[in-house]
Amino acid sequence: MFERTLILIKPDGVERGLVGQITARFENVGLKIIAMKMVRIDKEFSKKHYAAHINKSFYSGLEAFIISGPVVAMVLEGIDAIDLVRKMVGATEPKTAAPGTIRGDFAHHSYGFADKKGIAIKNLVHASGSKEDAKTEIALWFSKEELHNYAMTHEKHTL
Ligand code: CMP
Repeated sequence: MFERTLILIKPDGVERGLVGQITARFENVGLKIIAMKMVRIDKEFSKKHYAAHINKSFYSGLEAFIISGPVVAMVLEGIDAIDLVRKMVGATEPKTAAPGTIRGDFAHHSYGFADKKGIAIKNLVHASGSKEDAKTEIALWFSKEELHNYAMTHEKHTL
């Protein structure tokens, strides 16, 4: 029931100064941040993170984008956190993402626009898509020592 999931605030989210607002949404629903850091990844690391997309037509643009600036990586923990966070993040294409979601509220890029420009779609965040992905991605981005165990105030009060 309690799950861990990986979130990345991509270079567009960092450069637009949205780290605080995006992180606050996850904190507001009660998810626990158990790891967090700012990292600038290279091409090799991008190929590991986006291994499932390497052969897709959009990969070169995606790689150029994800290595273009620092990202904020975090691990969130909570009840059914993987699905919950995907719901909060919204559809991959910001134009399609529902209002109330992070992509729907803070971005409006479309696939059509990105393809025409030959650039990656600017969709602010990445969130693990499944339990299997979450496990692999957390292990790729964080060492065991970087994952913190602590009790939040509400957990202390329900103990
Ligand atoms: P993300 O959640 O980081 O996971 C995979 C990424 O690939 C996705 O966000 C988009 O940035 C990108 N992506 C997925 N599908 C497409 C697509 N059809 N066209 C362009 N980029 C895509």
